[in-house]
Amino acid sequence: MSGTAIGSVTVTLNGSDHAIKLPLLPGTIGPSVFDIRKLYPELGVFTYDPGYGGTAACESKITYIDGDEGILLHRGYPIDQLAEKSTFLEVAHLLLNGELPNEAELAAFERDVLLHTMVHEQLRQFYNGFRRDAHPMAVICGVVGALSAFYHDSLDVNNPVHRRISAFRLIAKVPTIAAWAYKYSLGQPFMYPRNDLGYAENFLYMMNAVPAEPYHVNPVLARAMDRILILHADHEQNASTSTVRLAGSTGANPFACVAAGIASLWGPAHGGANEAVLKMLAEIGSKEAIPDFIAKVKDKNSNVRLMGFGHRVYKNYDPRAKIMERTCHEVLDELGIKDDPLLDLALELERIALHDEYFISKKLYPNVDFYSGIILKAMGIPTSMFTVLFAVARTVGWISQWKEMMEDPLQRIGRPRQLYTGHPQRDYVALDERG
Ligand code: ACO
Repeated sequence: MSGTAIGSVTVTLNGSDHAIKLPLLPGTIGPSVFDIRKLYPELGVFTYDPGYGGTAACESKITYIDGDEGILLHRGYPIDQLAEKSTFLEVAHLLLNGELPNEAELAAFERDVLLHTMVHEQLRQFYNGFRRDAHPMAVICGVVGALSAFYHDSLDVNNPVHRRISAFRLIAKVPTIAAWAYKYSLGQPFMYPRNDLGYAENFLYMMNAVPAEPYHVNPVLARAMDRILILHADHEQNASTSTVRLAGSTGANPFACVAAGIASLWGPAHGGANEAVLKMLAEIGSKEAIPDFIAKVKDKNSNVRLMGFGHRVYKNYDPRAKIMERTCHEVLDELGIKDDPLLDLALELERIALHDEYFISKKLYPNVDFYSGIILKAMGIPTSMFTVLFAVARTVGWISQWKEMMEDPLQRIGRPRQLYTGHPQRDYVALDERG
């Protein structure tokens, strides 16, 4: 672990005179952490933190979030600057390698990604095993996991060259796999990747083109898609990234780890929220129905949440949501959609929530998913693909975090402990003696 201690806390257990010092380690910015590793070996106690809200599970140099101020930095660069000025593959290079590429580095990086956009032809057969109405997240979870059965030549996780090739394979193939999951659900032919197109452009092409017709990717929509991918590329140690790290800590191969990340992302509390926002807006139906809906959200017994609002870390406006809102207007303008009832409803819902004491006191603001669904729907992307798109973007973050972990000399298997509150030891009772 880097950094010299900037303080310490002395801990003793009641009734014991054995004291230990827990060093306080500084980050570059953000909260310092107490290094509690001596706590259990020396005092025999664990720390208790369900949901890990106050636990730093690793040291990382990739992404920094200040949730109170609404700041998100990748390798030090603010997300709004990256979303405005760079491309998704530039950001991928930044996350993976630590620096923005110069022209030659970017050209080489793009070439390395393009080299891997096709998937093994045999992998196509996997799709036929799924029902046509399978959720595309179920399909990509299975097919991405299956990559480890095809690319044996890059599975040695201790070999940096293998790690690099696997990273390129994942970044390059996931859009192909995702687009094919969509094509399969439509019953349309799979479109092979076109390496003369940009990353987002090619993804839109593989999703929307058919072999019988020429297809031109609208550059405004391609740019919007690229920006959506940038906004979802990485987000520190969230549930799916922690899942990837935990799976990877066992030495599992990166394809298996990313498949685990996809499974974790699927839930409505995480990546599934963009899909849930649209369902919620459809259920609300009209502006007149908003007050009743808000009343339900505030009712503790209703179990209804305002989807696309709230975040474990952000207690302020999610900086990605602001860029999403801007992008949303750009896309609707480009498509000539003057009055979008969904956007109107979302804006009104946001306005009411931001002025409501319940949301103000709990510091609940729109998160990245509040607007992304509206943009994607306007682009003609079906709701079931929303979380898949998130997974395409986040693959870069997952593999960058996995690589960082594998290169960390302190890396060891992740193995949390527990506060056991079950029965103490007792003796087995024969079946005929049980009451
Ligand atoms: N609507 C209504 N109330 C909410 C919401 C919401 N969206 N989010 C949190 N709250 C309330 C909770 O009821 C709780 O109230 P209480 O203190 O009176 O019990 C309080 O705010 C704190 O909520 P927690 O669930 O403890 O917060 P946590 O950090 O565990 O949850 C989460 C964060 C899961 C994102 C939550 O805000 C949520 O469910 N939001 C809706 C789903 C969503 O949009 N998820 C996407 C997250 S971003 C992403 O993954 C890309």
